[in-house]
Amino acid sequence: MEIYKMKDYEDVSKKAASFIIKDLILKPNLILGLATGSSPLGLYRNLIEAYEDDIISFKDVMTFNLDEYIGIPRDHPQSYFSFMHEHLFRHIDIDEANINIPNNDLDQLDKLAMEYDERLFGHQRDIQILGIGSNGHIGFNEPGTPLGNETFVVELNDQTRRDNARFFGSFDDVPKYAITMGIKNIMYSKKIVLIASGKHKAEAVYKMVYGDIDKQVPASILQLHPDCRVVVDEAAASLLRMDGNYKNF
Ligand code: F6R
Repeated sequence: MEIYKMKDYEDVSKKAASFIIKDLILKPNLILGLATGSSPLGLYRNLIEAYEDDIISFKDVMTFNLDEYIGIPRDHPQSYFSFMHEHLFRHIDIDEANINIPNNDLDQLDKLAMEYDERLFGHQRDIQILGIGSNGHIGFNEPGTPLGNETFVVELNDQTRRDNARFFGSFDDVPKYAITMGIKNIMYSKKIVLIASGKHKAEAVYKMVYGDIDKQVPASILQLHPDCRVVVDEAAASLLRMDGNYKNF
């Protein structure tokens, strides 16, 4: 793991974007794993800017999103399908056919999870972008889920639903289930760039970096990934010691 400690969220976003922009210039048909939530918003803004400045194109890029809620339609404003179109896809030249987001159709979830897995194993991600939950989840791999999981349906825990209530107006409106890449899918990526900002992430970041590898802190598995970059602001890094693979910007 390499830790990039940045001053604030703006610098976190720029640094994370710089990794993607560099690789995309070298490999225009990059396969990108994408996350939703607050953490990658600044990164996506930086990618859009680089696209508008003609530095990069997404014409040949293929994307795979980590997860999607179950129980709300794809056109619901808070679905991750809507989120990705709103905050990234509608601003860039990506081919809609190259966008992959887990389908949440209730009637055929098992089949859809298997199909998503097949596509994921056929298209190893060059870079996987991740956020981290305040409970240490990545994707929607909640504490306690087996670390060998492939794409599966998960019951969201209360902490995650409380954290995400800000998008829905109330806790009760937050879906109870989601479909998510498993840890095995996430680890099957050449590079991982994890973004975290804010004091509320400091404990999860600390446990991810220095804790035991433990299914109660799913992000701790990333210690075993050969190229995982953790880009954090000062608040999220506040419990980290200044040693090891530490880059202070
Ligand atoms: C989102 C995802 C989640 C979030 C995490 C952090 O696709 O898979 O793991 O990355 O819940 O969310 P934010 O960034 O909103 O704090």
